Amino acid sequence: MKKDTWTFTNNRNNESFDFDILDGSRGPAVVDTASFYKQSGMFLHDPGFNSTSGCASDITYIDGNKGELRHRGYDIEELTSKYKYLDICYLLLNKRLPNKKEAFDFDMELRHRSFIHTGITELFASFRDNAHPMATLSASISALSTFYFEHLDIESPAEMRLMESRIIAKIPTLAACAFRHSQGVPLIFPDIERSFTENFLYMMRAFPDGKMPLVDGKQKFIKDVEVRALDTIFSLHADHEQNASTTAVRTVGSTGAHPYAAISAGVSALWGKAHGGANEAVIHQLEMIGDISNIDTYIAKAKDKQDPFRLMGFGHRVYKSYDPRAKILKRLKDELRDELGIDGRLIKIADKLEEVALNDEYFIKRNLYPNVDFYSGLILIALKIKTNMFTPIFVIGRTVGWITQLAEQLEDKSGRIVRPRQLYVGK
Ligand code: CMC
Repeated sequence: MKKDTWTFTNNRNNESFDFDILDGSRGPAVVDTASFYKQSGMFLHDPGFNSTSGCASDITYIDGNKGELRHRGYDIEELTSKYKYLDICYLLLNKRLPNKKEAFDFDMELRHRSFIHTGITELFASFRDNAHPMATLSASISALSTFYFEHLDIESPAEMRLMESRIIAKIPTLAACAFRHSQGVPLIFPDIERSFTENFLYMMRAFPDGKMPLVDGKQKFIKDVEVRALDTIFSLHADHEQNASTTAVRTVGSTGAHPYAAISAGVSALWGKAHGGANEAVIHQLEMIGDISNIDTYIAKAKDKQDPFRLMGFGHRVYKSYDPRAKILKRLKDELRDELGIDGRLIKIADKLEEVALNDEYFIKRNLYPNVDFYSGLILIALKIKTNMFTPIFVIGRTVGWITQLAEQLEDKSGRIVRPRQLYVGK
């Protein structure tokens, strides 16, 4: 059958070239321009990769106009309402949801793999104690590669499977270490009796002897509602196709580097406030606004092209309607408001800010809606989590996406090293 093609005509010399049009299972068609340079002697210029597809993937699908997000075909609303974070991890890794026994075995495997070598805890001791947890987390993940190096064959699916569960299991432990180090509190090990999400809260909160703080003379428990809220936050961050950090992971992975070096690069890419760092920035911004009476001033700043100020937690490269993850978090925040004791003052400012922005011509014209980072911080504050841990929490949720994307890339034998070209404008 004749393939559909896209014809490129160079009106400098009237030369024409044909490129195949590829249809994915959903979403816009894609023009296969891999031979563009070979055929035309020219490069395609697309800074920020606005219109460029870098890989074929069957993990995550986003329809930014509809506000739709699917993993392995399942809608994010269905996944977060019926399944736990670890089920979603299993789905991403295995392309199907687990049955009861598989879910149990996966949970047990991760509990057993959640411990880290004491060499890593010694590494934390060498970091400055006021370092941002994203910096120490990224460094410690990179350092994990020093423990799983010999005989590592990343081409072997069985070996990669081990690397996947190890990193997913150890990330909460490393993130908790990063936090405890930033507070000058001795590090503790995981409690194998606790589930993935509860264990993270435990490692954040417990005394060095493993006991929980006392409230009214009794050991404080971790409430189910807290675990549920954090588990939903992890689930909503599990994967998001070819965003900046995933692209960083794939770029490093394409060179054949150690998988944990690639994940560490993803953590670094996530840190910036245009990406995962926005959740921390949102709270600082809400604090800075301080009162709903100041909202108009900050909306005016966000619209002023001479002012670099942007509304944090607003806008997205792909979503041109409401981010479905933000929709779920907004609902969760309203549902849990009383039970969790979410900060009413900041909620009031956030809700009003959203209302004003969504009715403002500037935001309407540019399709700027709240994104996942707009509401997550308000819930995390209610869990008594410090703002410097918001982006590491994004890391915990996203690690499964990064490692699944990396495994997919390694399985694709047609893959090549990522190596873009440039428009040279120098001497
Ligand atoms: N506040 C004010 N104006 C904005 C904002 C904002 N938050 N976001 C975009 N714009 C304007 C921008 O100035 C531009 O206007 P114009 O067309 O007049 O030049 C237009 O909207 C398009 O913006 P862009 O920067 O070309 O869009 P992008 O796709 O390159 O950037 C973004 C996407 C998320 C980096 C950007 O919207 C932004 O900086 N948002 C704030 C940071 C944020 O919340 N990041 C979290 C993203 S979601 C979680 C994640 O995936 O990490």
